[in-house]
Amino acid sequence: MKKKVICTLLASAMVATMLTGCGDKATETDTTKTEGTDDKADDAADDATDDATDDATDAADDDATDAADAADDAADDAAGDAASTDLSDKTVGVCIYQFSDNFMTLFRGELENYLIEKGFAKENIKIVDGANDQATQSGQIDNFITEGVDVMIVNPVNSSSAETITDKVVGAGIPLVYINREPDEAEEKRWEENNWDVTYVGCDASQSGTFQGEMIVDLGLDKVDLNGNGKIDYVMIEGDPENVDAQLRTEYSIKALEDAGLEVNCLDDQVGNWDQATAQQLVANSLSQHGADVEVVFCNNDAMALGALQSIETEGRKVGEDIFLVGVDALSEALENVLGGKMTGTVFNDHFAQSHSAADAAINFIAGTGNDKYIGCDYVKVTQDNAQSILDMVK
Ligand code: GAL
Repeated sequence: MKKKVICTLLASAMVATMLTGCGDKATETDTTKTEGTDDKADDAADDATDDATDDATDAADDDATDAADAADDAADDAAGDAASTDLSDKTVGVCIYQFSDNFMTLFRGELENYLIEKGFAKENIKIVDGANDQATQSGQIDNFITEGVDVMIVNPVNSSSAETITDKVVGAGIPLVYINREPDEAEEKRWEENNWDVTYVGCDASQSGTFQGEMIVDLGLDKVDLNGNGKIDYVMIEGDPENVDAQLRTEYSIKALEDAGLEVNCLDDQVGNWDQATAQQLVANSLSQHGADVEVVFCNNDAMALGALQSIETEGRKVGEDIFLVGVDALSEALENVLGGKMTGTVFNDHFAQSHSAADAAINFIAGTGNDKYIGCDYVKVTQDNAQSILDMVK
């Protein structure tokens, strides 16, 4: 039986309210995510694989074979529907929250390439810049509705605007794929309950935070505790506070240290809004205030880690010797820095998997095969050991 390798996230995510500064405790609520898969064809194949296995265990070999055949047929039908749909005259409206964001630039480039590879005409892929302004983006969504695009892919400026966006787009009968900025649980529940053609594609940010923390844990307390106070003294530079990626990376990077039995001491916790120049200034301030006590700088993304590195170098500090620095995204420049020992590590935020899954989900909606309401993918921990192979992939 053929079975497509899929990008799957099994997440029981702990969603927390934003850490508003050093020492504040997050309020945790347990939310269980549904398993994310590429499409229903995969689910059908997966379910039938399980069924087939059970049947075989019960020595019902014939039944198992039948189940496997049925699953193959179901998978082939659904995949066939998507593959056989003529996309050359279909239009897709893509809203990006801000073109100047480094990671979303990689994401949208790959998204466009892949949509073309799948059969869309370049002129039918309309990608617009929300300029980090929800009112601008809402106007762009209205325009796509007026134009009557066949599907929309939306990276919301504010995740909290998702309800309004969904109502508009679903009301216009247009299927909708959210990317990168996850709407809240209540919003996702509405899609499920109403069986709307709406889904979210993204990675579970708690995993990236955990990986950041683990990279510091792996160095060992002796190496990191430079001031010898028995604690990991750190500075946290956060992304956009409204963004669940920022919230979860902030929380889970520190949780990984605590889970490993390390004591932590937050020297500073600032919002850098994913931006290199802002982070550079914030880290310069922290270093001048706390000096040699700063042992680790956690940045919610690589753009901010690059800014942090500029300030670290200006201060004459040396990553790996008297300070440690981690980011997320695996931007090429950050990977070069990891290889050169100027960053302790980063986490690969797989824009290939995410953009491909988003495009596949859009195509499934057009083909009428539908999607799960949550489509996930995995992050990859990046240290000096594997930075070259990730760089070869992203370059
Ligand atoms: C994150 C990414 C950040 C920024 C943000 C935008 O996943 O790590 O660099 O692009 O998305 O929402």
